[in-house]
Amino acid sequence: MPPTDQTRLLVIEDVPQVAQYIRGLLNSQARVKLLDVLSDGSRAVATIQEMRPDIVLVDALLQGRIKGPKLIEQIHEAQLAVPVIVLTVPQNPIEADPARGIHGVISMPFSGFDLMTRIANARKEFDVHEAVTSNRVMSVFAPKGGVGKTTIAFNLAVAIGQLGQRTVLIDGSLQFGDLRSLLKVPADAPSILDLPTDRIAESDLGDVLWRDPSGIDILLAPPRIEMAEMLTARDVEKILSLLRRVYESIVIDMSSSLNDINLVFLDASDAIIEIVTYDSTTIHNTVAIADTFRSIGYPASKVRYLVNRADSAGGIEATSLEQALGRVPEHRVMSDGKLVIQSNNEGVPFVLASPDSQIAKDITRVAADLLSAGQRAVAAGRS
Ligand SMILES: Nc1ncnc2c1ncn2[C@@H]1O[C@H](COP(=O)(O)OP(=O)(O)OP(=O)(O)O)[C@@H](O)[C@H]1O
Ligand SMILES: [Mg+2]
Repeated sequence: MPPTDQTRLLVIEDVPQVAQYIRGLLNSQARVKLLDVLSDGSRAVATIQEMRPDIVLVDALLQGRIKGPKLIEQIHEAQLAVPVIVLTVPQNPIEADPARGIHGVISMPFSGFDLMTRIANARKEFDVHEAVTSNRVMSVFAPKGGVGKTTIAFNLAVAIGQLGQRTVLIDGSLQFGDLRSLLKVPADAPSILDLPTDRIAESDLGDVLWRDPSGIDILLAPPRIEMAEMLTARDVEKILSLLRRVYESIVIDMSSSLNDINLVFLDASDAIIEIVTYDSTTIHNTVAIADTFRSIGYPASKVRYLVNRADSAGGIEATSLEQALGRVPEHRVMSDGKLVIQSNNEGVPFVLASPDSQIAKDITRVAADLLSAGQRAVAAGRS
């Protein structure tokens, strides 16, 4: 079996000796699989669409109907969601420039080691860039209180951070500030209200965000219930658009109602993680809200159902839940009363405190699924 992290490479090279040299370098290893060598640039875009390589190597000096630089431009404009490494010679220096579709440069002569590291680096940087442009805003919502929104939002944000994403968690339960109490932050810790709303800048964020030891940043809710009223929907829109520029992933812990501000959170979301439990009121409200979402114009794919405490069915059949939702829920998280209470009381995420527990594994899986769904959405939007 090929290793799962194997890189599939397509080479566009019209000099047989160079093509042969690259084949030779790749022969004795399994990390990079050479899909094909095209000697004619005019077939390149169609072949990339068809073969979906992980990386493309283009000779800058490619001759024929489409020359190297033109082909690099074409691949870039076709938005194929694939990083390109340009092969050149010292007399023809080229700079890497992702904005122009050049994600790496390798100059003749090069060793097998040079080629492998260049490929690995180009892929890594491209993935990070992709994740940024996919801009995942994920709201954790439920039309019913107490189903686990705060618990899941916190642990999910930390799990996403652990996967290498620069992550911010917004305490969107603005009246009660659920994260404020969960994390036991001091009463004078700054909150979302401390952000200037007339002209907020990136530099303002540093003073206002709570840097949690779990590795993520948290935008806390106001310290007192009545202060939530001081925030307008327009303020929240501005804050979200700023956070989008600075963070790769934004997770929002929401309250259960459908007010103006919650609608701003939901509108801005790439995915709504909607929590359901095996409880008839929750299921009833979930069906009702699905109707509302439809009438607002949210596509069904915007919502991803997460069954929390999925092993506590309480007499309700899994198939009845699926029937009510109209589909199989996307995610499942098990119960673990003891671990959840203990870690919530200590204000630490169980995904870090107890990574081997089933519930932590479930959340980490949700995080990975959400990120890969986000990347697929970006790729689809480009093709
Ligand atoms: N998977 C789980 N296993 C065991 N207990 C859980 C699980 N998920 C949540 N809980 C417990 O359920 C309770 C409610 O959780 P949480 O505060 O996260 O819900 P919420 O939806 O944010 O509530 P609210 O509507 O008040 O904001 C907490 O006591 C928490 O410990
Ligand atoms: Mg909550």
